[in-house]
Amino acid sequence: MPNTGASNSSEMTRRSFVQTGSVALAGLAAAGGALAQGSKEALALSGGPKTVTVPAAQEAALTRWPRYGDAEKKALHDLIDNNQFYAELPLFENEWKQYTKAPFVKAHMNGTSALTSMYFALDLPPGSEIMVPSYTFFSTCLSMRFFGCVPIFIDVDPQTSCFDLEDAKRKLTPNTRALVPMHSWGLPCEMDHISDWAQEKGLIVLEDAAHAHGASMQGKMMGTWGVMGIYSFQASKPMPSVEGGMGMYQTREYFERAAAFGHYEDPEKFSADSPVHRYVGTGFGQKYRMHPFAAAVARQQLRVLDQHNQLIAANNRQLNQRLCQLPGLSEPRCRADQKRVYYGGNMLMFDESKAGFAREPLIKALQAEGVHASYWDYPEQHKRTIYSEAKWWHHPPAIPATMPGTDQVNRGHIFLPLFCGEAAEINEQYAKAFEKVWAHRQELAKS
Ligand SMILES: Cc1ncc(COP(=O)(O)O)c(C=O)c1O
Repeated sequence: MPNTGASNSSEMTRRSFVQTGSVALAGLAAAGGALAQGSKEALALSGGPKTVTVPAAQEAALTRWPRYGDAEKKALHDLIDNNQFYAELPLFENEWKQYTKAPFVKAHMNGTSALTSMYFALDLPPGSEIMVPSYTFFSTCLSMRFFGCVPIFIDVDPQTSCFDLEDAKRKLTPNTRALVPMHSWGLPCEMDHISDWAQEKGLIVLEDAAHAHGASMQGKMMGTWGVMGIYSFQASKPMPSVEGGMGMYQTREYFERAAAFGHYEDPEKFSADSPVHRYVGTGFGQKYRMHPFAAAVARQQLRVLDQHNQLIAANNRQLNQRLCQLPGLSEPRCRADQKRVYYGGNMLMFDESKAGFAREPLIKALQAEGVHASYWDYPEQHKRTIYSEAKWWHHPPAIPATMPGTDQVNRGHIFLPLFCGEAAEINEQYAKAFEKVWAHRQELAKS
C-alpha cells in the first residue's frame, strides 16, 4: 500500500531537475487552460489557506478499508452459532467460480500459498525459468524456488506499470517455460498480446491477479486468462477477508495437483484415476486451508465487490478528468477493451519535465493543501538479497543491470486515496488544490 510521506529518494538530483525544469517551464508558458483557473492565493505551504476543508472524519469515512459492517458481523455470528465452519469453504469457492466463470478454483489461506501451490502444480523440471515482473510482491517471484524454478525479471511498461512484453521478448532463454503477468493496481496486463506471443513460443501463461478482483479484459475476468492464476484477499485488497487467497485453474489436472499440495483431504475427493488420488490423507506436506471465518467475510465482500469497484472508479474518473488537464499528469494507459479496478490508490503518472517541477515539492505542497498525496516505490525484487545468493537457487537468477520502465514508474508516480462513497465535494477540493499548486509551479521549481 502506498505510504504517506515524501522521503523516498529520487534519482534525479535537485540541481539537474532545476535545469531541466526551467527549460520545461519556458516551453509551457502558454499552457493556459486549467492552469489559468488555479488559485493565485498563496500556497498553504507558504502560509496561505488550505484548499481541502472537508472534515477529517468525512474523508476517513470515504477511505476506510476494509469496509465491514453488519453483514460481515452477522455472517461471523451465524457461523459461530451453526458450528458448520468448513461448509463455508465450498460455498465461497462456488460463488467465486460463478463470479469469475473459472472452471476450477481452490480457496487458500493467502495469495502466497496459492502461488506456491500453482508453482508446484506446474511440475516443471528443476532449472526451468519463469518470467515475472520485478515490480511485484515477493511471493510472485520467490515461491517458485521450492520447486527448482528460477525467475527471469521482466520490466514493466512505464505507461501502465504492467508486464512489458517487449522486455520479455528480449529475455527469452532456451530454459524459459512460463510467464506470470501481474495486474498492477487493478489494471489488466495486455493478456491478448502476451498470450499470443506465449503460444508462439510454447510458454505457459500464468497470472498474479492479487490486485485485480472484478477486473476483466474483452469480457474475460483476470485470473482466467492464464492456465492458472491467483488472487489474494488480504486486508488491503479490493475484496478483503483480512487474509485469504484463491487459486484459479483452467484444467482439472492443474487444479487437482495445486489443491493436493496443501489440502490433505482433497485427494480423496478426486476420482480414482486422478494422478494425485493416491496421496489421500497427506497431500504433499503443506496445510494451506483458508480460515472459514475469512471465507465467511469474503462471501459478504463478494456481494459488494462490483458496487465498491464502480463507486471508486466513478470517483476517480471525475477527479482524474480534471487533474489530467494539468501538464505532466496522466493516468496509466487503459484500453477500451479492458475493465480496470483500483487497488491501493489512484495512481497518476507525474512527468517532472512536463510539469516543470519535481515530485518532492509537489507532494509537500499538496499535503500542505490537505490532499492525502503520497508515493510508494514498489521494492524491486531483483535488487533483494535472496536473488543474488546462489545457494537458494538451482542456478543463480540473472540480475538485470537496469530496469528502466520500473524506475520510471517508481520515480514518476503519485498516489491519491480511493474514495468509496459520495465524493463530489472532496474531489472538487482536491482538484482545486492541484490547480493551485500548478499555478505556483515556478515557485515550486525553485524550492
Ligand atoms: C502482487 C501480489 N501477489 C501476491 C500477493 C500475496 O498475497 P498474500 O498477501 O495474500 O499472501 C500480494 C500481496 O500483497 C501481491 O500484492
